[in-house]
Amino acid sequence: MNPMESNGRYRERIWESHLAADFERDVLAGLRAPQKAISSKYLYDALGSALFEAIVLLPEYDLPRRERALLKQHATRIVEKIGKPPHLLELGGGSSEKTRMLLEEAIAQYGSVRYTTIDISLEAVRTAAAQLLDTYPQITVEALVGDYFQVLADVEPRSATLALFLGSNLGNYPGRRGSDLFAAIHAALSPGDMFLLGVDLRKERAAMELAYNDALGVTAAFSKNVLARINRELGAEIDLANFRYASSFDEATGSIEAYLIAERSATYALGAGHESIDVAAGERVHIESSHKFTREEVRAMGEECGFVEREFLTDDDDAFALILLERSPR
Ligand code: TRP
Repeated sequence: MNPMESNGRYRERIWESHLAADFERDVLAGLRAPQKAISSKYLYDALGSALFEAIVLLPEYDLPRRERALLKQHATRIVEKIGKPPHLLELGGGSSEKTRMLLEEAIAQYGSVRYTTIDISLEAVRTAAAQLLDTYPQITVEALVGDYFQVLADVEPRSATLALFLGSNLGNYPGRRGSDLFAAIHAALSPGDMFLLGVDLRKERAAMELAYNDALGVTAAFSKNVLARINRELGAEIDLANFRYASSFDEATGSIEAYLIAERSATYALGAGHESIDVAAGERVHIESSHKFTREEVRAMGEECGFVEREFLTDDDDAFALILLERSPR
């Protein structure tokens, strides 16, 4: 089904950040910088989102399974704590079984649920929304399509009762950007509302690195898709075979840092103006940071942004954490 056919149970708003002009401008700026970089949000076009759906099935990428187990164990209690008609606001697409667990719990406890998703991929959002609307007659869905910061800056304040940011995606916003996002979520809640955050915890190096280096090469394909996207959308002819994917844990940043590395030097023309970009042999293009959190870091970030920690739930080996935060009065 098309979500538009759901008898008024679906609304959609699209922000400018979804448009191609931003993509071209950001890619050109990123590839001209001394340390070449492409924003990780551009990994998630229709194909990239589908490849990420495959990543979450990989045996090496155990974050989703750990998070799901924690949610399964604690969903009832988490939803009980909302204590009023549930309006879930998720940063992310809502296609996951984890989101469904919370939605089902909300429907079971309160009879109906409002669900708002903020996501950069229109295709992924529509597919997920159609499935949710089809499965749950008690749901209304609002899709806000765009960059998290742009969308959150525009949504009405106090518009949710439980915000969700799962999958350790907070780790993809390094340094101040993470706190900025926290603050934006704070503004979308009223005092007493909740924020459920899922983050991967700091652990032994080999265990962290394995999750980003799967034997099938799906993560490499997911990453290189950003170059394929540049070819598709910006009319470039980057030879994907000239790049290899590499990632490792960086002690200095406390994060997995993922790169695409050029084997040989090359010049590529891209965009409407056929602007040329040079890469040197061995040059790295940064595509993603995935921060690994300590308990103290998460707590400090929450407090700084006006949240009080209610629950800090981890699995037996302290690999992953679900943190339930309450928006404080100020
Ligand atoms: N949010 C995911 C993470 O940080 C995104 C991700 C998983 C990812 N695997 C990746 C990003 C590989 C880039 C490369 O774990």
